[in-house]
Amino acid sequence: MATPPILRSIAELRRTVNAWRKDGATVGLVPTMGALHDGHLSLVRRAREQCAKAVVSIFVNPTQFGPNEDFNRYPRDLQGDATKLATVGADAIFAPEVVEMYPPGAATTVTVSGLTEGLCGPFRPGHFQGVATIVTKLLLQCLPDAAFFGEKDYQQLQVIKQLARDLDVPSRIEPVATYREGDGLAMSSRNAYLKPAERALAPLLYRVITAVAAEMKAGGSAGTAAARGKQELLQAGFARIDYLDVVDATTLKLVERVDGPARVAAAAFLGQTRLIDNVPV
Ligand code: PAF
Repeated sequence: MATPPILRSIAELRRTVNAWRKDGATVGLVPTMGALHDGHLSLVRRAREQCAKAVVSIFVNPTQFGPNEDFNRYPRDLQGDATKLATVGADAIFAPEVVEMYPPGAATTVTVSGLTEGLCGPFRPGHFQGVATIVTKLLLQCLPDAAFFGEKDYQQLQVIKQLARDLDVPSRIEPVATYREGDGLAMSSRNAYLKPAERALAPLLYRVITAVAAEMKAGGSAGTAAARGKQELLQAGFARIDYLDVVDATTLKLVERVDGPARVAAAAFLGQTRLIDNVPV
């Protein structure tokens, strides 16, 4: 199968999308940072089900990494990604250089308040501003009918829905369920960092938040359930827990007892690797 064409500039992306639109095609956008795994491919499959054409952006966005985070060592494999994307029928890859997305003099950022205050927000200052800015740019560059995002990054998904609503972006934001390994570990490009012993321990995060969700559903209190969950993770060998919270599914505000849609979300370190996951209650 031929690999999809790789578009390097915003102008090429716009030309390609305009040509598709002239033929009456609908367009789906799947924003990624590359190092594609089956979770990403499930997003592309969903895009192909809902839209006639699917474009996948691959851009390791520097503005969403903190100074001590893994921007430099984030896995990059454009040719490998292109081969994978051929198998799911992606129609084009948009892979710009940093200077194409952030030319000298760029001075505008997108900040979403409220939703970014809890969960990952305090632990990754500037992260959601970087995400919101790049996703807004990608949406405006491509103007897709729909853009597809995994629920693994649940807070990111809510932030993107909010910015699309607030900035009148004419694209649907489509959530796609978290894709998991056979043992429950949520797929993530960062799983590649895990040493074998860490990889063996990693699915415990999913088991623990699933148990907390069950306890909440049975009428339990978030404080007690989360404390027990954290203790189990630390005892098993997780190095540090940024948070294990029960939040309202839409506002992401902490809840103590569940009386509507909620989410149990956690971020925890195994060695140097920060894993995040979440499940519905
Ligand atoms: O989820 C990701 O891979 C990134 O945060 C995104 C949405 C592609 C923005 O860089």
